Amino acid sequence: MRRSSLFLILSVLLMSCSATSDNASNSSAGGGEAAITSSIFGSMPDGRDAMLFRLTSPSGMMMEVTNYGGIITRWTAPNRDGTYDDVVLGYDNLDGYLKENPYFGAIIGRYGNRIGAGRFELDGETYTLATNNDANHLHGGIVGFDKVLWGAEPFTEGETVGIVFTYTSPNGEEGYPGNLSVMVTYRMSPDNKVEFTYEAMTDKATPVNLTQHSYFNLAGTSSDSILDHELMIMADHFTPIDSGLIPTGVLQPVVGTPFDFTTATAISSHIDADDEQIAFGLGYDHNWVLRDGSEEMKLAARMYEPTSGRIMEVHTQEPGIQFYAGNFLDGTITGKSGAVYEYRSGFCLETQHFPDSPNKPEFPTTILRPGETYSTMTTFSFLTDGMGS
Ligand code: BGC
Repeated sequence: MRRSSLFLILSVLLMSCSATSDNASNSSAGGGEAAITSSIFGSMPDGRDAMLFRLTSPSGMMMEVTNYGGIITRWTAPNRDGTYDDVVLGYDNLDGYLKENPYFGAIIGRYGNRIGAGRFELDGETYTLATNNDANHLHGGIVGFDKVLWGAEPFTEGETVGIVFTYTSPNGEEGYPGNLSVMVTYRMSPDNKVEFTYEAMTDKATPVNLTQHSYFNLAGTSSDSILDHELMIMADHFTPIDSGLIPTGVLQPVVGTPFDFTTATAISSHIDADDEQIAFGLGYDHNWVLRDGSEEMKLAARMYEPTSGRIMEVHTQEPGIQFYAGNFLDGTITGKSGAVYEYRSGFCLETQHFPDSPNKPEFPTTILRPGETYSTMTTFSFLTDGMGS
């Protein structure tokens, strides 16, 4: 772990801690000060308290986040009239997340997305992971990073507010080798951007692929379908999958397929196309290979919602992005303020290395070795069509 940056953050800690109980999520623009408040969100089954932090930006953006799974429970963004609405799916209380959570808002680790058959070989040893998605390993296993209580240190740096989450995953957790120290920082700046920085160090070689699993609905109502949203992904290839959603290893050109989002395209346009890949994903649930595969920050995807005018841009240092169209939502989950999360009522854009990389030597490596620092950044920026982009 980068101790120096942790100490830097801790040394500028200006924590303003006070109880908060109201759950307002709709407001108009800004003028206020950068602030963080905290309150008890609820009790974990083992009796520990999970905290809820509210980050507010002078712009008017507000995010609530708990140290249970690093879950973002509310996140407001402006429409073209400057009204801030909650644009993420989730629950009103901790119990909702403890009972059943399809990864709403959570930090995902050690490995975002699937590892085929929950096995991989590394340095001559075969490792067997917890399998929690039929025969495969998904999002870190049965108790992934989305289900643990993280250390949390809120901070303010001028007009920027944030939280540093820390967790040490013990050797053998969910089958992974090595003690892994992880630090994830959320940083909200007044230009309506939230930066996610992921850092990790290990004492034994292990796969690492961390991401954030917020489900968005930019209409701000969180229960309408996302099919009218328009998406652009900066990718000329995607990684086709088998029926268990494991990549075949091929990088397939998107041109002429339902996976071509090289120009802004309504999600509805081809999501039900008669296509084997669409059938395997039940719609879109695939990894796109970013055109610029470098570790530089670059635009990965832009989502636009025409009725509200909201635009969300995702920039990342990662080589891939999973676009998941909420195909497994089916109306059985009732979330915040009684919202029923119907089929395809939320989408995820998960920046990542490619699924099943530990078994695909042809993919960019996800192996972190002792002495190395895993370090990657992704930002989510909110704009509106009144502003241009
Ligand atoms: C995966 C989906 C999975 C979902 C779980 C996504 O990242 O790609 O296959 O069902 O997470 O909520």
